[in-house]
Amino acid sequence: MNTILLTGASGFIGRALASRLAADGHSLRLALRSPLPVDLPGASVFYFTGLDGGTDWTEALAGIETVVHCAGRAHIMKETAADPLGEFRRCNVDGSARLASQAAQANVRRFIFVSTAKVWGEQTLPGQPFTADTAPVPADPYAISKLEAERALTASGAGSGMETVIVRPPLVYGPGVKANFLRLMRWIALGRPMPLVETGSRRSLVALDNLVDLLARCIEHPGAANQILPVSDGEDLSMPALLRQLGEALGKPARTIRVPVWLLKGGARLLGRQAVVDRLCASLQIDIGHTCRLLDWSPPFSVSEALARTAADFLARSRA
Ligand SMILES: NC(=O)c1ccc[n+]([C@@H]2O[C@H](COP(=O)([O-])OP(=O)(O)OC[C@H]3O[C@@H](n4cnc5c(N)ncnc54)[C@H](OP(=O)(O)O)[C@@H]3O)[C@@H](O)[C@H]2O)c1
Repeated sequence: MNTILLTGASGFIGRALASRLAADGHSLRLALRSPLPVDLPGASVFYFTGLDGGTDWTEALAGIETVVHCAGRAHIMKETAADPLGEFRRCNVDGSARLASQAAQANVRRFIFVSTAKVWGEQTLPGQPFTADTAPVPADPYAISKLEAERALTASGAGSGMETVIVRPPLVYGPGVKANFLRLMRWIALGRPMPLVETGSRRSLVALDNLVDLLARCIEHPGAANQILPVSDGEDLSMPALLRQLGEALGKPARTIRVPVWLLKGGARLLGRQAVVDRLCASLQIDIGHTCRLLDWSPPFSVSEALARTAADFLARSRA
């Protein structure tokens, strides 16, 4: 068993991970900006005001063997910052670099960072999924900041002997999911029709339970040390297949209207949503072979099991 400092425990991924690590019997310290709505038995809390280059983690890191760093500026749907890259850097780069350097000074054994698949870029070519060795080409301020954070904490690790583990998930879905995936479920549940194009593209996603299972394995598995770990469900879906499976899970078949790609892209251009549609029409596939071999791991939940859990939680919340 391990003593773990977990950041981001109030978030979508961190909340689920905190429950899993507590259930596994680890001794947990949660770094939070405000109290959680529910108590996690056995976990202690370190309150701090925000993640940046000035945060003092000395007290939080005393006696800690492993840091799992989930906190970060992410999912900004409507950016209001005048300098988005500067804002992402302040939190994701300076904040993570500071935590990693103080963790190294405090003799933390392992630092696990929840990065993002967006570090590699926004799309893959057919038959060329992202692998741990793919050169990163981040395309937006968020992804740039996550790559810079990876580099800063790798440097802290290399200079000190602290092991670093970088996990790069694609879009995560599961109970409590927000943003676009939640919108998609709402749309299907309301029976609204949606445009569908057959592009032949495939996308890797990862279920929250699969990601949490991998992160839990990274705590102690020797093979994780100093690795970049691609993660996904290992089952890539086309958009029509995702809509069909999600509709089945919601008990409401998705109503789709086939439209030609040129029409969808033209409409999106007029509405200023070209980037979103281009992304959805392209493939983004991740090869998790490296992760599975190194950690003797495979995703414990299938896509259909994970979609069923996600949809059941959505329906329960809608009824509440
Ligand atoms: N969800 C995905 O699809 C996905 C995919 C790939 C990678 N990731 C990465 O996974 C991590 C967790 O994502 P998530 O989906 O759980 O996000 P989330 O639900 O938005 O949670 C973000 C967490 O970070 C904390 N945080 C945000 N800004 C902060 C700041 N300035 N100072 C201190 N804490 C701050 C939040 O704390 P408060 O509650 O105090 O705001 C919250 O605990 C992120 O680093 C993200 O980059 C997520």
